[in-house]
Amino acid sequence: MSAARRFKVVVRMKVLITGAAGLVGNHFSQRLACEHEVLALKHADLDVTDRETVNRCVLDVHPSLLINCAVIQVDESEQNPTKAQAVNVEGPRFLAEAANRVGAEIIHFSTQYAFDGEPVGRAPYTIQDRPRSVNVYGRTKVAGERAVVESCARSYIIRTSWVYGSGKNSFLCTVHNDLRAGKRVRTIVDIWSSTTYVEDLIDRVLKIHGTCRYGTYHVVNENVCSYYEFALEAGRLVGLSRDRLDPLIERVKESEMSRIAARPRYTPLRCLLSEQLGLPPMRDWRAALAEYVSVSK
Ligand SMILES: NC(=O)c1ccc[n+]([C@@H]2O[C@H](COP(=O)([O-])OP(=O)(O)OC[C@H]3O[C@@H](n4cnc5c(N)ncnc54)[C@H](OP(=O)(O)O)[C@@H]3O)[C@@H](O)[C@H]2O)c1
Repeated sequence: MSAARRFKVVVRMKVLITGAAGLVGNHFSQRLACEHEVLALKHADLDVTDRETVNRCVLDVHPSLLINCAVIQVDESEQNPTKAQAVNVEGPRFLAEAANRVGAEIIHFSTQYAFDGEPVGRAPYTIQDRPRSVNVYGRTKVAGERAVVESCARSYIIRTSWVYGSGKNSFLCTVHNDLRAGKRVRTIVDIWSSTTYVEDLIDRVLKIHGTCRYGTYHVVNENVCSYYEFALEAGRLVGLSRDRLDPLIERVKESEMSRIAARPRYTPLRCLLSEQLGLPPMRDWRAALAEYVSVSK
């Protein structure tokens, strides 16, 4: 197939984004707003679990693309499985059904927590690996993927992992500034995954969308690290020597964190569909982190 046939020319689209106040939703909304007509809906604007309102909204707006970024996070899912089912499974289903009704495409985000992360050191997970989650979040996200695919044939499922970027208060997003300010941070040494700079995630998702090849993609920066290694690199990038860094970075095991939900230990991802499409590997996580640190001073 020629390159001209494989990649569609993307004209100005009408895009509806849900969960638009979150990390991915907010960055996606800003990136698309210059070239497309974007309706970025926060939780207060549209509750994805309200089937009737979702339907009415999608029929009124009549987008050509829906991007669902709404989610209930890991520990909250464990504490409230009913809510996790509603937001991570039923909401995506309602959006995909509505997308199907108006002939739109849907991009839906999922997670490396689809997998159990065993054994440590294994090959990166591909779409040929059977999902097996260790917590409610992972199980509901996998069920959400299925609900979307069953409801709308024009769907892109984007599994990503440890996403960071500006505007969110999370370890990955803020550790470089905490270290720069001389704050002590706790880092987990025995959980590893792929990491993803949100701008790289958006670049790659837009490329994938341009191919018209529906399916399940794994979109992450190359190679794997632990939270501890991520913090070490972030500290190095803000100019701290090992002598300065070591006393600031406390090393703990996951078992010492007493978090509510279990976490998979080792979940690097690899994208077979991107390889088939001839898309190059995404840059190494250190290069992506270097860019993030340099722009978020
Ligand atoms: N961040 C990561 O490290 C990561 C890793 C792997 C996969 N992902 C996937 O990427 C996607 C986006 O994640 P994110 O990090 O951007 O999440 P986020 O920052 O936690 O944002 C999620 C947003 O969803 C909203 N939301 C919650 N319930 C809702 C509902 N019923 N209706 C509408 N909106 C609702 C939240 O609003 P309120 O706070 O007001 O409730 C929040 O603004 C998710 O599918 C997630 O599974 C993220």
